[in-house]
Amino acid sequence: MNVRDPNAGRTEAADHGVAAADAGAADGDAPLAGCAALVTGASSGIGAATALSLARQGAAVTVVARRTGRLEELATLIRERGGSCSVLTADLADAVQARRAVEDAVDRFARLDVLVNNAGYVAMGPVEEGNPADWERMVNLNFNAVLHMSQTALPHLLRAAADGPRGIADLVNVSSVGGRVVRKNNGIYSATKHAVGAFSEALRQEVTGRSIRVGLIEPGMTATEMATGPGSAAARGIPQNVWLRAEDVARAITFVITQPAHVAINEIMVRPTAQEH
Ligand SMILES: NC(=O)c1ccc[n+]([C@@H]2O[C@H](COP(=O)([O-])OP(=O)(O)OC[C@H]3O[C@@H](n4cnc5c(N)ncnc54)[C@H](OP(=O)(O)O)[C@@H]3O)[C@@H](O)[C@H]2O)c1
Repeated sequence: MNVRDPNAGRTEAADHGVAAADAGAADGDAPLAGCAALVTGASSGIGAATALSLARQGAAVTVVARRTGRLEELATLIRERGGSCSVLTADLADAVQARRAVEDAVDRFARLDVLVNNAGYVAMGPVEEGNPADWERMVNLNFNAVLHMSQTALPHLLRAAADGPRGIADLVNVSSVGGRVVRKNNGIYSATKHAVGAFSEALRQEVTGRSIRVGLIEPGMTATEMATGPGSAAARGIPQNVWLRAEDVARAITFVITQPAHVAINEIMVRPTAQEH
């Protein structure tokens, strides 16, 4: 029977934009027991919610981003709930650091069963007024980091699939509705997310016969730091109180990862009900 403390993580989880109900400890029949997961961009938003969710499913989680303090708070929360969490600080827009983060994560728990490439950055606006430094940051973080981390992770995921408790390993890339739907003033972000989608499908075909699942998650408007900042998609006219919460997306990611080994959910687009496009 699963028992959850109704007060679990109320304050600390709220600091990461995560509902307290999603911050509980691993359930008794944890489907990810004995597995290790690496979640990028876990210092806030969807990444933090995903790390909490995977820990609750029994995974030992390594969390990576640039804000070490936020990651340490998250790790404390996970440990208080009986989970295992290790913190890595890295700027994943740098290819060397991105690759090293994977190897460091493998060192921490001596295996890697799950990689969630979630870290992302958006800078909106027309191309004519765009700052090339912002373009490079989006390309390097949203796309190049996914390439480098995925390639570095593959041998470890293959090993986990061969000798792990589940007989399967998971690589999940967080794209966006913008990875399917192009809008003006969002061209570079949208291009990076389209690239993530193309890469994910090609990689899926390459590794699927070797028991690695590659999943793609395409969230719509989600109330995180990224989307609520200045110049964000708030202009699209959807009231923020009906946007997705970070844990709504984390639930979709966890759903993909916790399927039986013979079931591969390749792609999920998840929008607020009120979002038309
Ligand atoms: N929110 C939405 O409406 C929405 C919609 C569709 C898709 N998405 C996607 O969802 C993913 C998560 O975004 P979010 O909404 O949860 O936003 P968020 O709260 O702003 O989270 C972004 C995460 O990425 C990390 N990050 C940024 N630059 C980094 C770098 N150079 N190196 C390492 N980590 C870095 C941030 O941590 P640090 O700052 O500590 O490094 C943070 O943990 C992104 O891929 C985003 O494109 C979001």
